[in-house]
Amino acid sequence: MNQTGENRPHQGEGIERVPRHIAIIMDGNGRWARQRGLPRSAGHAAGAETFRRIATHCRNLGLEHLTVYAFSTENWKRSQDEVRGIMLLLEKYLHESIEKMEKDRIRLKILGDTSALSPGLRELIGRTDTIARRLPDCFQANVCLNYGGRDEIVRAVRRWKAAGPEEELTEQALSACMDTAGIPDPDLIIRTGGEYRISNFLLWEAAYSELLFCETLWPDFTEKDIDDAITVFRSRDRRFGGVKA
Ligand code: IPE
Ligand code: IPE
Ligand code: MG
Repeated sequence: MNQTGENRPHQGEGIERVPRHIAIIMDGNGRWARQRGLPRSAGHAAGAETFRRIATHCRNLGLEHLTVYAFSTENWKRSQDEVRGIMLLLEKYLHESIEKMEKDRIRLKILGDTSALSPGLRELIGRTDTIARRLPDCFQANVCLNYGGRDEIVRAVRRWKAAGPEEELTEQALSACMDTAGIPDPDLIIRTGGEYRISNFLLWEAAYSELLFCETLWPDFTEKDIDDAITVFRSRDRRFGGVKA
């Protein structure tokens, strides 16, 4: 495979299948920092570096989508200092992406309710969207920011309603109103940090995702952990409610 990840391995014969879409609840930044006697902000900075490495690795493996949970609709409950630190890191990341997206061939998309974000962040998101439109076939990194699964469903229903009464409410119609419209449902959802819950992540899209929980704190998560997760994924028997012939 070349460095740009354009020559994706095919999903079929002879080559081991990679999932199209992996989603990750990146948890454990705070505990990682505490173990080192550092402020929580240091954990978030280390976590941002991990995200960069893992996104590059997923692109190189030939995945189509990586979706990460960066900030939930509930994370505003944290101290002003912590929230401000996370928002600054996100701004820094968006600035870098604007510079590098075309060269890196990583199409960045922000999912969630961006209306509550600062004007600065919203402006950066607008610029990344413009660049992303020029990269239609690239590996896509979806960053969930001020994202909540319930909130996404409510906003989707509002969008559907705004489309007018003539459209019938179906699963397909609602999917098309989600932040994830056009993105295949995640094949695999990984949660790091040793908690065994979904914490309001991709509630609609996770209907048939395989789930994998690991103890590793997010800043310690490596490329090998992704490879191991894919090996576990391959061993799962996905039946989608049917029975094996
Ligand atoms: C995940 O790490 C990052 C965010 C939720 C923003 P945490 O900050 O939740 O880390 P822990 O769970 O306290 O260790
Ligand atoms: C989930 O982690 C949200 C993100 C990783 C962004 P939290 O640390 O906020 O979740 P809880 O509080 O343990 O459920
Ligand atoms: Mg946490």
